[in-house]
Amino acid sequence: MPKRWLLFAALVLPGTLSAQGSAERGQELAANLCAQCHDISPACEFKTYPPSFASIAVFRDVEQIFSRIMFPQLHSAMPQAGWFMPREDVEDLVAFIVSLEPTGD
Ligand code: HEC
Repeated sequence: MPKRWLLFAALVLPGTLSAQGSAERGQELAANLCAQCHDISPACEFKTYPPSFASIAVFRDVEQIFSRIMFPQLHSAMPQAGWFMPREDVEDLVAFIVSLEPTGD
């Protein structure tokens, strides 16, 4: 198993991961920390780069979003912001992102 997955397991497994964070707080954090690169509006276009938060909500689940914040793809512009904020903030960001998934009504 690659080392980063061991590290990931060590970080993630002790707490159960859920979308229990505060989406409202996550929105504030996203506006300050993420919006200069990502489109964070609920009705944003798909297939943008970097992906809009609404499209991430459609294509990824909670665990995937959490791990992509903690471990961005190498050689991308995505900062390793997850390392420099409390876990609670990351959970709030995840809660905000998943809240953008269209419900179909
Ligand atoms: C400097 C520009 C930049 C900033 C700021 C930024 N991102 Fe990103 N982000 C990217 C790029 C480029 C990608 C695509 C490459 C990748 O997946 O790592 C990305 C990818 C992602 C992905 C994975 C998307 C997928 O394919 O599933 C998530 C989740 C994400 N960002 C969340 C965030 C959050 C949350 C913040 C704010 C804390 C943030 N990003 C701030 C540039 C940025």
